[in-house]
Amino acid sequence: MSNVTVIGTQWGDEGKGKIVDWLASRADIVVRFQGGHNAGHTLVVGEQVYKLSLLPSGLVRGKIGVIGNGVVVDPKALMTEIDRVTAQGLVVTPETLWIAENAPLILPVHGALDRAREAARGEHKIGTTGRGIGPAYEDKVARRAIRICDLAEPETLDWKLDELLLHHNTLLAGLGAETFTKEQLKDFLTEITPRLLPFSCQVWDRLDEARRAGRRILFEGAQAVMLDVDHGTYPFVTSSNTVAAVAASGSGVSPSSVGFVLGIAKAYTTRVGEGPFPTELHDQTGRTLGERGHEFGTVTGRPRRCGWFDAVLIRRAVRVGGVSGIALTKLDVLDGLDEISICVGYELDGQKIETFPSAPGAQSRVKPVYETMPGWKETTAGARSWAELPAQAIKYVRRIEELIEAPVTLLSTSPERDDTILMRDPFED
Ligand code: GDP
Ligand code: IMO
Ligand code: MG
Repeated sequence: MSNVTVIGTQWGDEGKGKIVDWLASRADIVVRFQGGHNAGHTLVVGEQVYKLSLLPSGLVRGKIGVIGNGVVVDPKALMTEIDRVTAQGLVVTPETLWIAENAPLILPVHGALDRAREAARGEHKIGTTGRGIGPAYEDKVARRAIRICDLAEPETLDWKLDELLLHHNTLLAGLGAETFTKEQLKDFLTEITPRLLPFSCQVWDRLDEARRAGRRILFEGAQAVMLDVDHGTYPFVTSSNTVAAVAASGSGVSPSSVGFVLGIAKAYTTRVGEGPFPTELHDQTGRTLGERGHEFGTVTGRPRRCGWFDAVLIRRAVRVGGVSGIALTKLDVLDGLDEISICVGYELDGQKIETFPSAPGAQSRVKPVYETMPGWKETTAGARSWAELPAQAIKYVRRIEELIEAPVTLLSTSPERDDTILMRDPFED
């Protein structure tokens, strides 16, 4: 029996939320360890649709949800989300939601700077969610972040706000954006403190107790390996590490607690925001995938760019992410296509290359080399067993396993929680 860590293997929106919700029935605690409310996870349970950004998906199953120190917390966004899911019938109290007191806060200055910088970047913009994620992580590393525990110490807050504003107002003024006063930030913090502080605790200590008591932990990654600040398509990435190793440092547990690493991959590829995407389709097939897959960003509503499955990128995500098995989602979206292509290699400037290059110019010039298979006419939508899948769909899954050098241990065939096929229980590994 082990813990399980779920990570995205593409550019996000692979269906991590659905899979975490499904697996949460087998776990006691679900932990977010990086990212912030740039994440958007959609869970469909019967008639109810839950859209979560900061809250761990396990709350929907009535499990304990944890926001680890590796997450950047926008307190207003958090409270709005708590109010929304509470209205949907979920119970979110300091007993069911634990937030690390050493987690850094996202303040209004961060969103303002994120948006002002994106505007100034013009055609080289990253296409961020505009929610202040990058600037908040920068402040953490620069040692000027306001952390949740600071809210209980007015004297600390006072000098930290001065330092923070000196930095941010200089930048905002330089970009021609509105600056902030200390009063504005103080008012913001005074308003959120009484609601936020009761949730905060020493998460590492509680997780250690849980480990000693033999409780199962499910770590819920946000974003994905290709958006990882080191391993992704830099600079068109998010500002955190998204690989499974970070589950430990982002929540304060031993690296050995990470357990089985379940990588989530869509049966094709999507991306929101800017940046290289070798298998992107600008034709009718791309539009068909977008329409059938309802490919619109959960957070920003932007249409997602769509393309074929890129086995080379996933093989890399499997290696750098330490992926033990793959959950392949949205197989149903490929139903009825005459032919399906898989990227099995690349060409760069007329030369065959084995791996994806690191520099942005080369990344954007890479051309995919495809292998094409016949599609299937039957429907896989709603399938709950391997036996219900058409032979050609099984061949597609088997070919993917060969190419990415990892087993497919779960399959998802619709947004609905129970339309899931389990091949191997990751908690039993
Ligand atoms: P996440 O960010 O990785 O959690 O993914 P999102 O929730 O942002 O995006 C995935 C979308 O696909 C959501 O709207 C899900 O409801 C939906 N989805 C998940 N799995 C499947 C599947 O197997 N088939 C179909 N058709 N939709 C799915
Ligand atoms: P989930 O958890 C898809 C993308 C943004 C942008 C880049 C940087 O739902 O998979 P940021 O605001 O993080 O500085 O934006 O990263 N991005 C995501 N794309 N799914 C996400 O989360 C994303 N979180 C950030 O679109 O390209
Ligand atoms: Mg998403």
